[in-house]
Amino acid sequence: MLEKDIKKVLVSEEEIKIISARLGKQITEDYKGKKPLVIGLLKGCMPFMTELMKHIDLYMEIELMGVQSYHGGTASTGDVKITRDLDIPVKGRDVLIAEDIVDTAKTISVISKLLKYRGAKSVEVVTLLDKPAGRVVEFNPKYVGTIIPKEFVVGFGLDYDEMYRNLPYVGVLKEEVYKK
Ligand code: IMP
Repeated sequence: MLEKDIKKVLVSEEEIKIISARLGKQITEDYKGKKPLVIGLLKGCMPFMTELMKHIDLYMEIELMGVQSYHGGTASTGDVKITRDLDIPVKGRDVLIAEDIVDTAKTISVISKLLKYRGAKSVEVVTLLDKPAGRVVEFNPKYVGTIIPKEFVVGFGLDYDEMYRNLPYVGVLKEEVYKK
């Protein structure tokens, strides 16, 4: 049913598995001897974080933070609202933020700065998708799954008006859907 609203598949279910395995292996090597705190930004991080975690072979903890940057449309408002804060302190921790997509980078730069301000020892970012053409704030995530063009995508955690997060792949939404 949802598929009829998708113009094309950009990153398939199979590709996401391969990407997550590669990133998980890299993270495992880079954090050897450390006990990272992986913080997922809700709600978009959910499927990716779940897939990625399976490939990280380390003693690690997970936390979730609720962040909102879009308010129903397809353009970033620039306002970053924390809807759910962390349950544990980040002071002295090696933090790895898990994101679905970095677009303007406003969200990730605000949250990275906040976690550093709270005393995290290190803060890095792992994102499934990177849309560098959308950048407003300079930011280079350390771990990038794949680079995508400046198109509005949905699926695998990414939404349009809270819908489509449950698609097992990342696809481009037909324009007529959001121009209705
Ligand atoms: P940024 O602050 O512009 O980098 O945007 C980060 C957040 O905006 C992501 O975590 C998504 O929730 C949302 N976002 C950015 N681009 C897209 C897109 O193409 N589709 C759906 N959500 C997006």
